[in-house]
Amino acid sequence: HSVDTLHRTGFHFQPPRNWINDPNAPMYYNGVYHLFYQYNPKGAVWGNIVWGHSVSKDLINWKVLEPGLYPSKRFDKYGCWSGSATILPGKGPVILYTGVVDKKGNEVQCYAIPENISDPFLRKWVKPDAFNPIVFDDDINGSAFRDPTTAWWSKDGHWRMLVGGKVKNRGMAYLYRSKDFVNWVRAKHPIHSAPHTGMWECPDFYPVSLRGRNGLDPSVFGNNVKHVMKNSLDMTRYEYYTVGTYLWNKDKYIPDNTSEDGWGGLRYDYGNFYASKSFYDPSKNRRILWAWANESDTKEDDVKKGWAGIQAIPRTVWLDSHGRQLVQWPVEELNSLRGKEVNMRNQKLKKGDYVEVKGITAAQADVEVTFSFSSLDKAEAFDPKWVNAEDLCVQKGLKLEGGVGPFGFLTLASEKLEEFTPVFFTIFKASNNNKHVVLMCSDARSSSLNSELYKPSFGGFVDVNLVNKKISLRSLIDHSVVESFGAGGKTNILSRVYPTLAVNNHAHFFVFNNGIEHITVKNLKAWNMKSAIRD
Ligand code: FRU
Repeated sequence: HSVDTLHRTGFHFQPPRNWINDPNAPMYYNGVYHLFYQYNPKGAVWGNIVWGHSVSKDLINWKVLEPGLYPSKRFDKYGCWSGSATILPGKGPVILYTGVVDKKGNEVQCYAIPENISDPFLRKWVKPDAFNPIVFDDDINGSAFRDPTTAWWSKDGHWRMLVGGKVKNRGMAYLYRSKDFVNWVRAKHPIHSAPHTGMWECPDFYPVSLRGRNGLDPSVFGNNVKHVMKNSLDMTRYEYYTVGTYLWNKDKYIPDNTSEDGWGGLRYDYGNFYASKSFYDPSKNRRILWAWANESDTKEDDVKKGWAGIQAIPRTVWLDSHGRQLVQWPVEELNSLRGKEVNMRNQKLKKGDYVEVKGITAAQADVEVTFSFSSLDKAEAFDPKWVNAEDLCVQKGLKLEGGVGPFGFLTLASEKLEEFTPVFFTIFKASNNNKHVVLMCSDARSSSLNSELYKPSFGGFVDVNLVNKKISLRSLIDHSVVESFGAGGKTNILSRVYPTLAVNNHAHFFVFNNGIEHITVKNLKAWNMKSAIRD
């Protein structure tokens, strides 16, 4: 059966058909990148979960293989749920994953190893009976116990890994230790937990360097290293992370107090981005982040389309030089899909100006820009009550008669602007005079004439220094995706949208300004994007 291609992506990862959710066990081994994903081989809704498997040499073009894991044992009869890969030195990769043992959804942790380590694609995986399941703890709520992390090795000769869970409404990451990777013992206390956060799905925990952009192997410790802990909160389908200190000999993680450890915390992405997982890529010394971007049309639409779910563009992730947050940027390999380039230089935008960038395939494009302004004097005063960026984006929108901004992109716009998805900044003056508050929004409310869709306005604050009077923005536009990186990847927002008019050759792209202060498009580069291979 064929699938509906109207809103299918050209370069964001998706399999040829059917439902996908979480990225699983991303890794680099023997010159090949592997991506597994929660996959329903039978349809475009969640269910019958197996691990879809694709391989790549460049993280962009993929070859689909047979599922790597599928229910085949008593310990995973009702599903092979999310998990991670660990490369054991001298031995090769091991997958840790969650097996669902019964209809009630009781979960245990299992492991799988390649059947043939010299198969370059590691197509077949076996689940040794002798030790599986490797973790089943009777005293843990069995339906809130899943998604093992990549394991790391500590100087005391133990491997350690985390499993997500909750007790009452307290979200937590259980810690397990093992000497041999098959006998695992739970530490007395979770490595970390936080009240009122609910179930922690897909925890991720890894070291980041205090200097430079290089990624680190999960087993690296030391003075120039901090740790990041990320959790996916199933109550809202939002993720948040903290930067902090890992005391390995106390088996404790202590978040820095530079951001909230809870709902209001830092997010990788302030849009549609969930169940993310990172891995260390030794071939380029970088840490790469994958995440699932769910559909925001209806289930019925998904069934009709024959597909649902994509992966965000893999992003390189590193710690900002001030150490308070992460920075993310699309992997450099994406640039290999850039085709024809169009430029715009020193274009002034007065209040109410909308200038089209012509000559690009605006439904499948990569656009990078630096905006500049001569003064922030006209910026509107920021009300300290505005704590929630998303609410502020809803309240202000793109039409607001601002002081500085809103200015930015109008993506996936139809010719007469019946449909458009704006991505924009508004700059406010903080009560503390020299300081500014930068708001970034990606607003899907006018993205489609179809009224049956979820069309949220997303927003995040941008912690950026404006002394040079400029700010950058990059958007990856891909038919039903607008994935944007503000200020070089400090604040990022992925929106899923389903235009009815602004499709294929009928999509347009504009830069705009609705603020009083004039904005200059210093340097805009737009590329037509070729399609990636994904079959
Ligand atoms: C997150 C999640 C995981 C689980 C998997 C099941 O989206 O719910 O917690 O392992 O999806 O498909």
